[in-house]
Amino acid sequence: MSRKILVTSALPYANGPLHLGHIIEAVQTDIWVRFQRMQGHDCLYVCAEDTHGTPIMIKAQSEGITPEELIARVAEEHRAAYQGFLIGHDQFHSTHTAENRYFTDLMFGRLKEAGHITTRSVRQAYDEKAGMFLPDRYVRGTCPRCKAVDQYGDSCEACGATYAPADLIDPKSTVSGTTPVWRESEHLFFSLGRFEEMLREWVRSGSLQESVRAKLDEWFSTGLQDWDISRDAPYFGFEIPGHPGKYFYVWFDAPIGYLGSFKALCERRGLDMPSYLAPDSKAELHHFIGKDISYFHTLFWPAVLHGSGLRRPTAVHVHGFLTINGQKMSKSRGTFITANRYLELLPAEPLRYYFAAKLGPGVDDIDLSLEDLTARVNSDIVGKLVNIASRCAGFVARGGGKLADRLPDPALYAEFTAAAPRIAALYEQLDYAQAMREIMLLADRANQYVDTHKPWALAKDPSKAEETLGIATQGINLFRVLMVYLAPVLPDMACHAAGFLGAPLSRFSEVDSPLLGTPLAAYQPLAQRLDPKVVNQLVASPAATTTAAASGEPHVTIDDFSKLDLRVAKVAAAESVEGSDKLLKLTLDLGGETRTVFSGIRKSYTPESMIGRHVVMIANLAPRKMRFGVSEGMVLCASGEDDRVYLLSADDGVAGGMKIS
Ligand code: 2FM
Ligand code: ZN
Repeated sequence: MSRKILVTSALPYANGPLHLGHIIEAVQTDIWVRFQRMQGHDCLYVCAEDTHGTPIMIKAQSEGITPEELIARVAEEHRAAYQGFLIGHDQFHSTHTAENRYFTDLMFGRLKEAGHITTRSVRQAYDEKAGMFLPDRYVRGTCPRCKAVDQYGDSCEACGATYAPADLIDPKSTVSGTTPVWRESEHLFFSLGRFEEMLREWVRSGSLQESVRAKLDEWFSTGLQDWDISRDAPYFGFEIPGHPGKYFYVWFDAPIGYLGSFKALCERRGLDMPSYLAPDSKAELHHFIGKDISYFHTLFWPAVLHGSGLRRPTAVHVHGFLTINGQKMSKSRGTFITANRYLELLPAEPLRYYFAAKLGPGVDDIDLSLEDLTARVNSDIVGKLVNIASRCAGFVARGGGKLADRLPDPALYAEFTAAAPRIAALYEQLDYAQAMREIMLLADRANQYVDTHKPWALAKDPSKAEETLGIATQGINLFRVLMVYLAPVLPDMACHAAGFLGAPLSRFSEVDSPLLGTPLAAYQPLAQRLDPKVVNQLVASPAATTTAAASGEPHVTIDDFSKLDLRVAKVAAAESVEGSDKLLKLTLDLGGETRTVFSGIRKSYTPESMIGRHVVMIANLAPRKMRFGVSEGMVLCASGEDDRVYLLSADDGVAGGMKIS
């Protein structure tokens, strides 16, 4: 029976590029959607830009543009990247739209009416200079426990303590660098606790992976807290009806963005939206997300849906984080691979296949090892799969260009098609890794078949022409079955293969009967080997090349080094730069001479903490004209896993102007 399925993946924030962590989720979702369609189900896939909140507002400010301009620009970049990875959204929308406002207002109104919304006063850090309340992450100061300087307002990275921003010693706003004050303001809360029974029942209905369910049990046992869903102006978002100056917290309207996007799709295609969203809907609703946002999707979201009289999700599918060569993605190590960087270097499908080969049904992290990527793609896709077609195509061409009228080994063909239900079940359960293994075992079998029957040897004997064509026909048909199984993962290749075969590869059921007596188009190579040198460029970066000498790359000579004029400089003055959240303007004393340097350290250092400090600078860097003035040098910093930078410092006795050698 045909199912009606609505599928989503998490909405990317509209303030930065997509990276491979976003892509693995989109690929996981897209494979599932394509698979469902190949089963004949009616499966729709929507996504959108997540556009609201403080970081987007502040980023737009620092670029001197409106949030609307920022989100429009980023949306275009995201769209192109998703397309590059062959992600087939039916609708890619935005949360800053009339459709999303419609659902946000509607659902809030219903929650309020049903008594699920309360108000109470919240004391929060307020930046008087910037004129705004500060989210915890925008306050930094000294840890009250271990006294580590420059820690976030909610937790200390040095000792792991968690606290309120008010507990920080010497707190500073990262927006203006000033000391925040504490102000009370009314906030609106969603009473999550009222939904505990409903959520427990929903969890029992089998919608979640085992480990996610275990996490929920933990959350139930620690108790469900009311959820603060409002923020005060200035805030980029939707103003709350009936509460002037109050805005919906970005996480309130983000998942509603799934419905907003779906609404736009329904309007465009004339679909019957209520049949998907009514509480008794027979349609399925599946969300694909990363494990970091489980709480929002497995507690808040089902409760908000239910509380506003809508259906709950059929399932929330949670995946782990992507690591690169065994390590967390990191900008400083050069392993923060953006979608665009990947697409500049390589085609999408090898990575889609690799992700499929690594994605299981659990929430374990998934490692992208570049060496393994090259090896697997070259071995599985080029060496096994494509090899079958390329070995057999020539014999069909020489035999008249048409497939034979019968298969020499129908039993082997039947063995291949008999795998369909099992492979389908693996796709359905998101065990793509096992599906890929089983498909590749079949590819081995197909290659063995060709090896055993040696059509190239038979082809030398004109009396064996029919036999040769038969073997090639068998090989091509086995290839066709495998290509159908892989079409959700390799849609582009499937499309080219369908052109070659002269038959569609769009349903699993197509393999029920073999392709016989029909012409083949001229064979064109269906995939290229990956070159490890190109693959390795994915992680080449300035940071990665600092270790180049160790890995045998060219050294710099002592002459190269001596060209740098490295000096100790004393910070005479420091101020934040209007319109930039990254830069501090430093006045540096080089023992008499002073220099102005713009340094991207504002996220890690307040202006006050800089004054009187000795830093290390490159004094002979050509002056650079920046938007805010001319920078006459560069201050040296180390950077690590976190987003912070660490200034280099010198021993006691050092003085401004000293040369470093
Ligand atoms: O964590 C994130 O990147 C969010 N932008 C995901 C939102 S998913 C949904 F709720 F909108
Ligand atoms: Zn601490």
